[in-house]
This record gives sequence, C-alpha cells and structure tokens, in this order.
Amino acid sequence: MTESNHHGGLRTRRSTFALGAATLAGTVAASGPDAFALARPVAAPSPASDGQVPFHGVHQAGILTPQQRFGGFAAFDVTCGDRAELTALFRKLTERARTLTAGLKPKTPQEGGTERPRDRLTITLGVGASLFDERFGLAAARPPGLTRMPSFPGDRLEMRTCHGDLSVQVCADNPDAVLHVVRDLAREAAGAMRARWRVDGFINPPRPAGAPRTFLGFKDGTAHPDTASAREMDRLVWLGAKSAGPAWARGGTYQVIRAIRLRAEAWDRVPAAQQEKMFGRQKSSGAPLGGKKESDVPDYAKDPKGLVTPLDSHIRRANPRTPQSADSVLLRRSYNVDQGLAPDGTLDLGLAFCCYQQDVARQFETVQKRLEGERLADFTTTTGGGYFLALPGVKDKKDWYGSKLLGS
Ligand code: HEM
Repeated sequence: MTESNHHGGLRTRRSTFALGAATLAGTVAASGPDAFALARPVAAPSPASDGQVPFHGVHQAGILTPQQRFGGFAAFDVTCGDRAELTALFRKLTERARTLTAGLKPKTPQEGGTERPRDRLTITLGVGASLFDERFGLAAARPPGLTRMPSFPGDRLEMRTCHGDLSVQVCADNPDAVLHVVRDLAREAAGAMRARWRVDGFINPPRPAGAPRTFLGFKDGTAHPDTASAREMDRLVWLGAKSAGPAWARGGTYQVIRAIRLRAEAWDRVPAAQQEKMFGRQKSSGAPLGGKKESDVPDYAKDPKGLVTPLDSHIRRANPRTPQSADSVLLRRSYNVDQGLAPDGTLDLGLAFCCYQQDVARQFETVQKRLEGERLADFTTTTGGGYFLALPGVKDKKDWYGSKLLGS
C-alpha cells in the first residue's frame, strides 16, 4: 500500500473515522419519452431545511431524492462471526437509520443534548460482492451482476480505498447532520463492522443558475434521466421482476462509486475554448456547443463528423444519443471533494463520482468504456471506489435492511 491514496480523495480507516455527506447532482427531468432526449436543467440544490425524507418505501431514499448539498460515502468490512450476528447488524443499522432520518429527540446523553434537525437526511445502504464470500453462507444469493470493481485503463486503484462489504451513503443539507450519522454508526455498530474508507463531498450552489459546477468549472448534472418518471426509473435504475438475479434484490439498484482525482493546476492552464471542446459544453452557460441554453439538446445526427461537438468530447462519448445508447443511460449523484494538498504539494481536488443503474455492465461499464481515450482523461485519475448493490427499501416499521436476503 502506498501513501498516494490521498490523490483519490479517499481516507482510509487509519484516518479519523467520520463520514461526510454526499449527494448527487440534482434531479433533472427529461423532456421527452426517452431519457437520451433529455433536457431540463438539473433542479437547483435545495436550501438547508429541516425537512424529513421518508425512510420507509419500496426503494431506499438517497437515490432519486433531489441531491442534498452535502454527502459522504463510506465502505465497511463486516467483522461479525456468523450469519446471526450479521442479521443483528442489519437490524441495528435499520433501527439507527430509521431513527436518525426521522430526526427524533435523543433519548440518551450519548446521543447528544439537542434535538436533531432532519436536514433532508438520507442514509442509503449497499452491499458489496465480498459480503457473499464463504463467511455467511450467502454465496448462492449473490446477484451475478454484483462483482468486484475492475481496474479500467488509466485507473490507479489503491486497494485500501476500494471495495468493501458494505457501503453507506449519507446525504443531508448540512455537514454536521452527515457527520452525526457517521459517528452514530461508529458507536452503535462497533465490533460488527470496521470502516475501510470514506470520502466526504459537497455540491456548490448554482453559479449563476442551473446545474452546480464541479471544480473543473463546468456545470455538472445537466443531463439526467427523468427521475419523476416511474417508467424510466424501472427501465434504468430499479431491479424489477424482469431483471436478472435473485428476487431478494428487487427494488434495489446498483451503485458505482469512483474516487476521481482532478489535475486542477494543469486544467487551469488550458484555455476555456479547449476545455469546452473536451466537455462538449459551453463553460459559462452549460449549453451544448452550438446551442444557446443549458437545456438545449445537442443534435449529433446533424454533426456526424464532430465539427460542432467533437466526437471525443465527454458528453458525446458518455451519451451519443443514438437509439442503441439509450439503454446505457445512468443516474449520476456525485459530490465534489476537496482534501487540501496532496503529498506532492498539488491541490487535492476530486470528484466522488456516484451513479445508480439497473445493470452495471449495460450502463456504467458501457459508458466508462466509451469514455476511454477521451481528452478529459488527461486531467483525471481514478484511485478508489467500488461496486455495490443498494438494497431494496425498508418497507415499514417491522421490516429491516436485507430482510429478504437474510430471512426473518
Ligand atoms: C472527474 C470526472 C468527471 C467530470 C468532471 C465530469 C463532468 C461532466 C460534465 C461537466 C458533464 C456535462 C454536464 C451534464 O450533462 O451533466 C458530464 C456529463 C456526463 N458525464 Fe461526466 N464527468 C466525469 C466523469 C464521468 C464518468 C466516470 C462517467 C461515467 C462513466 C460520466 C458520465 C457522464 C454522463 C452519462 C453525462 C451526461 C451526458 C449526456 O447525457 O449528455 N462522467 N460530466
């Protein structure tokens, strides 16, 4: 293990245990029946509030929830001795998530002296492929689509900031709400799971409007599938009756996390016009090249040679908007990461890229492979992350995370 993991914006379990909030770029609604035809700008990040996001449901919160300002991802390794202890852990995590997201008054002095605000807090639990090894007798229950994240060309993965038995995404409108959850889980689940890595992030307010900007200065979150369309979400995000894999996973969705380091100093030396060609969008407005408004939809059929939107630009590679590419559309929910300076003295800025999809091979991996060789790749390096399955929702007060997987 090297020390260069800092480049990925991830902290390992050697670091202080705490998790930051993470959330995704707001919801964007598609304008047409097909997600690839999309195009209303992402909803502006919500202001701080004491609102409550319902915990119970067919699906977990924190996936279609309009992105909160702060978010964190953490991965844990389970240290339980057997399946009964694992079941107890999942029940405990359910109880804590239910309580914390409801913003209930603390019952004990250890829980803090003041009433917690709700802050649109969401806690989203995922399982990694390693949970299905020999330890808990779950091998036969592993969905075939849940694998260990491979190394893609250009990746410099640090094993200690990759993978994990469990992932926890915590998102809220304020950072203290996120940290509070992390500390609560650290106390309540001590002895049953151990933090492996974590990363905190935030999204910026829109500048001046539309999708918020990442550290590369471009609006990010403009093009998204329509999260308000149940049909689209059933097609692109949720595992359903027709999905491959075991019935227990229905209602869940695959979560891909990629800790991406940005070479900000090098990027800042590139003229804006060249940066725009790398993304395929205008820096000031977020409009596609050749368009006027952020919500404009590029027409690649009219530009087959890439004279307007270069063929190797990020948005054209990520979503070529052909009938064939419509099935690879995914739902992004990423956070910016600022960890000060890397050991070599460069700015340690990054993106905790997160996306949700029904099928990792059909969606994330297809998009990732199309992005290979994009010009933006000179300015990014992926160092950590993992593949997880965000569990189906906890239906009601009696239900618990993974009840169908572990039995009641
Ligand atoms: C540091 C890395 C990255 C940065 C800074 C970045 C930034 C952006 C920006 C600025 C846009 C245009 C605005 C928008 O439509 O939201 C965009 C679009 C997109 N990006 Fe990325 N991105 C990164 C990595 C990735 C990765 C790893 C993937 C998936 C493998 C991805 C998938 C997409 C998709 C699917 C779109 C929408 C394209 C469309 O529908 O037109 N991005 N990204």
